[in-house]
Amino acid sequence: MRRSEKGNPLDLRAWLEEVRALGELKDVRGADWNLELGAISELNVKKEHNSALLFDEIAGYPKGFRVLTCSTSSPVRLSSILRLGVERTHHALVQKLRGRPAAWQAEAPNYEPVVAETGPIMENIKGDGKVDVFAFPSPFWHEKDGGRYIGTGCSVVTKDFDSDWVNVGTYRVQVHDERHVGLDMVPGKHGAIQYDKHMKAGKPFPVAIVCGADPLCYLISGIEVPFGMCEYNYIGSILKEPVLVVKGQVTGLPFPAASEIVLEGWAHPGDVRTEGPFGEFHGYYPGKAHPAPAVTVERAYYRNDPILMGSPLAKPPNDYSYSKAVMRSALLFDALLAAGVPDVQAVWAHEIGGARMFNVVSIKQRYAGHSKQAGHILNQCGVGAYMSRYSVVVDEDIDPSNLPEVMWAVATRSDPAVDIDIIQRGMGSKNDPMYVAYPYKAPFNSKAIIDACRPYDHLDEFPDVAEASRELQEKVRRKWKDLLE
Ligand SMILES: Cc1cc2nc3c(=O)[nH]c(=O)nc-3n(C[C@H](O)[C@H](O)[C@H](O)COP(=O)(O)O)c2cc1C
Repeated sequence: MRRSEKGNPLDLRAWLEEVRALGELKDVRGADWNLELGAISELNVKKEHNSALLFDEIAGYPKGFRVLTCSTSSPVRLSSILRLGVERTHHALVQKLRGRPAAWQAEAPNYEPVVAETGPIMENIKGDGKVDVFAFPSPFWHEKDGGRYIGTGCSVVTKDFDSDWVNVGTYRVQVHDERHVGLDMVPGKHGAIQYDKHMKAGKPFPVAIVCGADPLCYLISGIEVPFGMCEYNYIGSILKEPVLVVKGQVTGLPFPAASEIVLEGWAHPGDVRTEGPFGEFHGYYPGKAHPAPAVTVERAYYRNDPILMGSPLAKPPNDYSYSKAVMRSALLFDALLAAGVPDVQAVWAHEIGGARMFNVVSIKQRYAGHSKQAGHILNQCGVGAYMSRYSVVVDEDIDPSNLPEVMWAVATRSDPAVDIDIIQRGMGSKNDPMYVAYPYKAPFNSKAIIDACRPYDHLDEFPDVAEASRELQEKVRRKWKDLLE
């Protein structure tokens, strides 16, 4: 039965039932919110076959006040979140996803959210002096973090000052005290633009923070949806039905009716407090603690036995990096084809490079210069250029997502003198951990394109690979299943 036939299509609990039935969910009892929960999740996500983790009986918290982590970190879970059926391999999922983001975006205007009178999120409402953000087991994720973070896998709902545009963005949220949380919105992000307009006018900025919901919510609020478009429309386009929302009592901001926990309030002009530091997608703390908008929480809404969604950024593979790898790989694949590169076999934007800094494409070589063409376009196309560093091209017998295979090809099929091209003063970022060591006045970086394909002009002479053929491997694997699995 499809999720939407059971009720609200955007209900985390229905999704949990689905992934539990697929063997992709584990229960963890008795972990401490203070560092332990973060470290368990971090070790779990680095396992090749990991599960989503549902923490309960968290130290110092009542049974039922739960935290979910690692929700998007496998092909099965991610394909199910994206409503793409169940896919079990990276490659199949990337293929399924190709072309979809453009279609979702094009159809989004047809899916205006629908406002309901009430919903499960209204089961508990705290206000009028009863708000206590510490009621929820926000983890202290890593030793060097600036504090406890209630918002990592969250969606921050805000409204424009001079239009009806509602934006939903994933911005980390730090707990300051019982009634105040801090928002980190990088300048230029849509929430930051809306905030700036309110501050310029001297008006309080309305905010509703969805701290737990179906993971599709934070997956989409964490990607670049066009300026002026509401992420609820985009989510509706994926669901093929409108998102059901309720309106907050204080700000009127809409949030999904089946959300788990929502904090609603205002960021008042002049109220900035020290926020951070916190890890970034590439695995470092590039920023220091800094002043950031504080939100005064006027209402806390939560379901009975609420579930907080955790997705901390950290050294990859991290909680969120798998979903980024899949999404960017699909976009890069489409970009290579759109640029006219033939016979692209597979693309993988590796998690270890934050899905930006170490990307690999495999091709079936057709002509002299084909591999260099693929490598340069992989490195410089629209979705690839920002913060790209190493772009590697391999032959079709190499799986781009298999790092040892890729590095074996680099080690054995490339001649550094001719197979590594360097692009200088490319598109970098101040967020690059190497930025501290660069000589540039603006955020440039240099890039290497590594051609690790067999030399096209010596294909006939190039030595054969010494290993069992694919067919023999499959045959032996089937026959000796118990031994080899
Ligand atoms: C788990 C996660 C945490 C993120 N944390 C932040 C953050 O703290 N600040 C920020 O500006 N962007 C953060 N991002 C990136 C933004 O969510 C992303 O750029 C998104 O497009 C912002 O929404 P907007 O385009 O509507 O501004 C995060 C993304 C994810 C997935």
